[in-house]
Amino acid sequence: MDLKGRNFLTLKDFTPEEIIYLIDLAAEYKDKKKKGILHDTLRGKNIALIFEKTSTRTRCSFEVAAHDLGMGTTYLDPSGSQIGKKESIADTARVLGRMFEGIEYRGYEQTIVEELAKYANVPVWNGLTNEYHPTQMLADMLTIREHFGYLKDIRLTYMGDARYNMGNSLMIVCAKLGMHFTACTAKEYFPEETLVEQCKEYAAQSGGTITLTEDVMAGTKGADVIYTDVWVSMGEPNEVWEERIAALSLYKVTKAVMDNAGKNAIFLHCLPAFHDLRTKIGKEQGEKYGFTELEVTDEVFESAQSLVFEEAENRMHTIKAVMAATLGAV
Ligand code: CP
Ligand code: NVA
Repeated sequence: MDLKGRNFLTLKDFTPEEIIYLIDLAAEYKDKKKKGILHDTLRGKNIALIFEKTSTRTRCSFEVAAHDLGMGTTYLDPSGSQIGKKESIADTARVLGRMFEGIEYRGYEQTIVEELAKYANVPVWNGLTNEYHPTQMLADMLTIREHFGYLKDIRLTYMGDARYNMGNSLMIVCAKLGMHFTACTAKEYFPEETLVEQCKEYAAQSGGTITLTEDVMAGTKGADVIYTDVWVSMGEPNEVWEERIAALSLYKVTKAVMDNAGKNAIFLHCLPAFHDLRTKIGKEQGEKYGFTELEVTDEVFESAQSLVFEEAENRMHTIKAVMAATLGAV
């Protein structure tokens, strides 16, 4: 398998074999890291990390993974560069591409990261856009495989805002890997029709299925994985809180949902999560709208079925695999 020089913008661009290869490679790196075996085979290289939106996991994963591989990193924060304000994406790409061997981008439209990739001349990695979050997918799949031992035929139900980066990306990866994806949410939060059709084609090849339903009990019945995300994503205006709470409260992950899922079901969430009021935004919105937990109850979040911190750790190992493969370390 040779992924050297490839961009990593969305899993639509990758075959099932390539996706599995990256998950396998991440598992190998994870094992090496646990055993203290150094793997700094990209010494002398440098990468740029552009974050137009904030981050804890993705930024730390890129930095730690880069350092483990022997690379230097430069972090460009949401306000600290000329990008988009004084300098176009195409010009930025041509500058950074001359200094760095790879570029990570987190921000808004997918077209921005595509433009960056078009001009950079070095691999570009999508660290989250409005539409997709592909590095998160590899971590999620590694976590699911570690728990169940396999991916094919796993039934994953996504609850909440299924027409944004997380819902879209989970539908794509499940369809590619022969899994059974269900979006269980209000109709207006179903993924976009054209993407659903495309994913149905992937699923027809892989033996997977795509289901969209508004029925909580039918949509979560017997599921292996219950997955959710925040109801209001980064960059969305404050005004949408009210409509989200009204439309999505029925789709909160509760103990009743987990009890309706399969016997060995796990709970996943890309994080950060509003499972209590111990955050500034959670407290503000909670007081305003009268809730104490939002997309998932604290009970489920803190339960033994919740693998969210294993999942967060796996961000680092999988991002390392993406960089190593596309920079030719393997
Ligand atoms: N899951 C995720 O992408 O987390 P961050 O926003 O903290 O990077
Ligand atoms: N949908 C969320 C994902 C965060 C990892 C957001 O875009 O804010």
